Amino acid sequence: MVLSKKYIVLRPFFGEPKNSDFKIVEEELPDLQDDEFLAKAAYISVDPYQRMKLGDKYPCDMIGGQIAKNSAYFGFTQICQPKPGETVVVSGAAGAVGSHVGQIAKILGCRVIGFAGTDEKCKWLTNDLGFDAAANYKNVNIATFLRENAPNGVDCYFDNVGGEISSVVVSQMNLFGRVATCGAISSYNETESEKRKATILQPSIVRNQLKIEGFLVNRFADRTTEGIKQNLQWVQEGKLKYREHIIDGFESTADAFIGLFNGANTGKSLVRII
Ligand SMILES: NC(=O)c1ccc[n+]([C@@H]2O[C@H](COP(=O)([O-])OP(=O)(O)OC[C@H]3O[C@@H](n4cnc5c(N)ncnc54)[C@H](OP(=O)(O)O)[C@@H]3O)[C@@H](O)[C@H]2O)c1
Repeated sequence: MVLSKKYIVLRPFFGEPKNSDFKIVEEELPDLQDDEFLAKAAYISVDPYQRMKLGDKYPCDMIGGQIAKNSAYFGFTQICQPKPGETVVVSGAAGAVGSHVGQIAKILGCRVIGFAGTDEKCKWLTNDLGFDAAANYKNVNIATFLRENAPNGVDCYFDNVGGEISSVVVSQMNLFGRVATCGAISSYNETESEKRKATILQPSIVRNQLKIEGFLVNRFADRTTEGIKQNLQWVQEGKLKYREHIIDGFESTADAFIGLFNGANTGKSLVRII
């Protein structure tokens, strides 16, 4: 008999997820069947998608992954179709996906501009990861910053955050620009619909004949090995750097998840099971 621990979610999230939304319970695992195996967790991935509505009945099991999937490589290369010399903007740039996208853009010969939530994160992007420019979206005028740092306009935008940041970026895009809509974390906790409003995008989309495409990483599931090989090669060549924000202990998983919405992490947020 194997006794395991799991998180259950007591009620639908309202606004920011809170520790009181979760409870850890023990569960006796059923006996293994012939085609099953038991794996002991070493690391748990916490991800923004876990904020979504989990079901119609609460309490319910918390969802999650023990192995992180990689969204940046295919989402950026396949949807943005970047070309050398083009200017790429990444929002949520110091996070797991964003920091990866910006570096891939540099490897492919693009000029890269990132937006992140602290000055320290921006220094990491420019000093360590090779971004050409980065700014703290909390204290910069994004339109002015882009006019100064992307004087020829923006060709590709990898959007992790949505909202007003994205409206400003899209308004500065070039003819036939491409937007990969990966996520909209700025809206996930917003309970007041009034606050969800952002400047209307359609005039910019029409004027510049932009292509805006959402994606889920599972679309590229049959090419996972190709993505892993390419990323591994770049890591081994020293072209792709990564940072992990590791929190110890299964009991800290809810804190790690909540931290995603406060910008606590730089790079990929993980829980180490000790
Ligand atoms: N389409 C897919 O298949 C797919 C797969 C994975 C992830 N995603 C999406 O990709 C995005 C990034 O995911 P990730 O796993 O790489 O997470 P992450 O970027 O490592 O962590 C979330 C980051 O979002 C930023 N953030 C939080 N609230 C914000 C706000 N109101 N405005 C702007 N930024 C905010 C925080 O950094 P700051 O300090 O910069 O604010 C935080 O560190 C999310 O939107 C996620 O839903 C999509």
